[in-house]
Amino acid sequence: MPSPKRKLEPDHETSKPKKPRTSPPTTEATMPFTTPDPPPDSHINSTLALSYWSSTEASVSGVLGGFPQVSRIDLQGSSNFLAKLRRGSKSHPTSRKLKRVVDCGAGIGRITEGLLVGVAEVVDVVEPVEVFTEKVKGKSGVGEVYNVGLEAWFPEREGVGLYDVIWNQWCVGQLTDAQFIAYLKRLPPVLSEGGWIIVKENLSNHYLAEDVYDETDSSVTRTDEKFRRLFEEAGMKVVSSELQRGMPKGLYPVRSYALQPK
Ligand SMILES: C[S@@+](CC[C@H](N)C(=O)[O-])C[C@H]1O[C@@H](n2cnc3c(N)ncnc32)[C@H](O)[C@@H]1O
Repeated sequence: MPSPKRKLEPDHETSKPKKPRTSPPTTEATMPFTTPDPPPDSHINSTLALSYWSSTEASVSGVLGGFPQVSRIDLQGSSNFLAKLRRGSKSHPTSRKLKRVVDCGAGIGRITEGLLVGVAEVVDVVEPVEVFTEKVKGKSGVGEVYNVGLEAWFPEREGVGLYDVIWNQWCVGQLTDAQFIAYLKRLPPVLSEGGWIIVKENLSNHYLAEDVYDETDSSVTRTDEKFRRLFEEAGMKVVSSELQRGMPKGLYPVRSYALQPK
């Protein structure tokens, strides 16, 4: 699932492929980057995903896959990451509040309440599961709430203006590669000058550097290489990137990327 999650088992990380090879064996060092057939994201089924999330408890533990203890360190890391971006910014300095930001795939509003309302005047929320958004709707600082998946969110049509930050965390694994690229391509017209698209996600540690499909919530966990390739295809540049420190051992590494249109 895109929430904090246990890494693949060690023997899955290191063992050689068990299928017969059609080409000469290669060593780990010369192993070419592979795309499995069918690609992991082809298994994504949004009906199954929504059925999983709709039956999940509307709590921090629920949205964090049973690892609520990760929330504090995650929010601290995110706050530092954003503050560093703003310290180097003329358009969005830390000396004044951001005007409008949006929490995408927001769940119960853990990041909205734990970080974004503190740094922005208005925080919009995009989240397909209504039971989750009931927890955050109407709270101080919360603006529009869109109960749709990111693949069906067309922010320019909503006419609410520009976002200084578009925060996407532990949710873009619910989108196929093509949906993710199309979504990123829709964002530049609603991003303020000098604003950032943040993507904070688990990274796959697969031994063949492949993305990993998770049938629990019908999502994929991507590699760092894949993320960067998709950003490139969407016309985005990575202006800053950082590994989340202090994640418990045994969970996937988590990386934040700050993107701006090229
Ligand atoms: C692991 S939770 C993360 C929630 C929140 N970002 C956080 O970090 O607390 C994943 C969230 O993605 C939502 N989700 C599922 N499918 C989605 C989609 N197609 N687009 C956006 N969000 C989706 C789920 O309902 C769930 O709230």
